[in-house]
Amino acid sequence: MATKNTIKNPIPGSKVLYIGVDLGTNHTAISTSDGKKNSILSVVGTPKDAVASKFLKKEHLFGEEALTHRVALNLFKPIEDGVLKNQPGDIEAAKGLLQHVLQSVDGDRGKQKYAIIGVPSQASVLSKKIIMDMAGEYFDGVMVASEPFCVAYKLGKLEHTMIVDIGAGTTDICRVHGTLPGPDDQISNVKAGNYIDREFVRLIQESYTDARVTNEMARKWKEQYSFVGDIEKEIIVELPVNSSILKLSVSKELKHACESIIPDIVSGISKLISTYEPDFQDILRSNIYLAGGGSQIRNLPAILEKHMELIGGGKVSIFKDPIYGGADGALKLAMDMPGEFWQTI
Ligand SMILES: Nc1ncnc2c1ncn2[C@@H]1O[C@H](COP(=O)(O)OP(=O)(O)OP(=O)(O)O)[C@@H](O)[C@H]1O
Ligand SMILES: [Mg+2]
Repeated sequence: MATKNTIKNPIPGSKVLYIGVDLGTNHTAISTSDGKKNSILSVVGTPKDAVASKFLKKEHLFGEEALTHRVALNLFKPIEDGVLKNQPGDIEAAKGLLQHVLQSVDGDRGKQKYAIIGVPSQASVLSKKIIMDMAGEYFDGVMVASEPFCVAYKLGKLEHTMIVDIGAGTTDICRVHGTLPGPDDQISNVKAGNYIDREFVRLIQESYTDARVTNEMARKWKEQYSFVGDIEKEIIVELPVNSSILKLSVSKELKHACESIIPDIVSGISKLISTYEPDFQDILRSNIYLAGGGSQIRNLPAILEKHMELIGGGKVSIFKDPIYGGADGALKLAMDMPGEFWQTI
């Protein structure tokens, strides 16, 4: 969790809009206190030249729309490997994303606005100042929080709980113990969704030397079939080659790609347990929740529990809202903060 960059605290009786934002590598979600929500891919495109600009009739395209027109655009994905990129184009893009999601829920109208922005835990340490400065323009009060903490807040699990948030760019592991987490409470690594995709491509190409598979294809197959451990049914994917379709069995490759993130997760969990207050270590190990898109990998809780048998056991559950969990948690946190908090952190 980070510090503030606030202007004024809510005026009693005035109309206040609280906002939770989850600014992720892959998707940006927003949730507001008047019940509106939206989620888009964290991609921004600007026209490559005057022709593109005239044809597209706008200077910024967001999310899916930007991907659709990507050949005519310079694309920006402002968050990578868990941090906000420090280039002017990326900072502008992040700002544009924020403004865009805010407008999409009518959050740019009137009212006083107080927002908590959930970001990958490394970004909350490294890029918080940039994010706060950038967001300060749109909100009367703003604070940056680590995304796994927002998830814990949404769950209402604020004591002796561990959140393992498997996103696109990073896996963030965070233990929660009744206060805002500090740097020692969080471990982050870059073995997450994008890493699995690259591994999957590499392994398919090792097995089938002629197959030309893109990261994008790998991601789609992964999102459809991902698993760890054992499954009954073989996984066959279809790869277009020239004018025909090649059928490839990729069970082994997908299993190994998905399992490649497990060792770092287990060692991260182990470290956060072993450095926790000894009296509460057992409660902590039985309160582990998986969040983020990667939590949907089949069998993951059971296989993690199996690995944890070697380090004293554990209980792993899934937090079931990979799209809005972080934004809802950030919103709940913003609404629970006392007025003076926005001024005095
Ligand atoms: N069914 C699935 N099985 C495995 N992975 C999946 C599945 N569905 C989505 N994913 C992956 O989850 C990742 C996106 O997760 P999420 O939306 O939580 O990321 P993010 O919050 O934007 O990223 P980060 O937290 O790293 O900034 C992508 O890599 C996506 O391919
Ligand atoms: Mg995330």
